[in-house]
Amino acid sequence: MTKFLEILDDKSELVKRALKISVNCIQEAIAKRGKCSIALAGGSTPKPLYEKLAAQNLDWNNIYIFWGDERYVPADHPDSNEKMAREAWLNQCPIPAQNIFPMPTGADPATDAATYEQTLQDFFGSQDNVGFDLMFLGMGDDGHTASLFPQTAALDVGDRLVAVGQKQEDSRITLTLPTINASHNIIFLVAGANKQDALQQVFHEDCDPKDYPSKFIQPKEGRLWWLLDAAAGEKLSPDGAIYAMKSR
Ligand code: 6PG
Repeated sequence: MTKFLEILDDKSELVKRALKISVNCIQEAIAKRGKCSIALAGGSTPKPLYEKLAAQNLDWNNIYIFWGDERYVPADHPDSNEKMAREAWLNQCPIPAQNIFPMPTGADPATDAATYEQTLQDFFGSQDNVGFDLMFLGMGDDGHTASLFPQTAALDVGDRLVAVGQKQEDSRITLTLPTINASHNIIFLVAGANKQDALQQVFHEDCDPKDYPSKFIQPKEGRLWWLLDAAAGEKLSPDGAIYAMKSR
């Protein structure tokens, strides 16, 4: 694993940097493998990045879109990660409709998780071949990522690609840690002072990853970029263990 920590001056610089890295990863994947599979993060941070990606001149026919997690709501619900990504990005670019694979939320969480598991197996050809070319992740102020929340059962799911996440009493659909860590490239997008404490824990050796699940994200062979704005990264002192680069 190659790990990068970049602390950018502000959110707009973070988005610009994420755009550059993302486009490079997409073009590299298509050059190497003929196509690029991307798993999207939800929440609010990625939205400006998605808006910029929509305007890029990319080989859209060979780009395939999945989600890293989904709230258990209909696709037209204001909380839907699918709704946000379609409005910010996918409806604004010529990506073929059949290249977009939203997480189903119409049956029950366990059934929909199993359905999405099959969708991934069909796309990648088998459970062992699953590995997204590019994975976007956010981090909550409790250290969760995707819908892998602290001290929840989904953190222990190692034999499936997709699981039912639990945010208090709300069920969600989420990729599991092995699926995320099989990615070729992972970009964490973390902005805002409210993330400072969780970041300090995630980057601190002694933290129990079950308390701060973002710490479990260690791609086996992939590249991992932590892109933070200065407000989020304020308490982090770059050290030898992690390559750090202040924005120029
Ligand atoms: C979701 C996300 C979740 C998100 C974090 C950060 O469905 O909410 O996938 O993991 O990335 O909660 O959210 P913000 O970017 O809004 O801070």
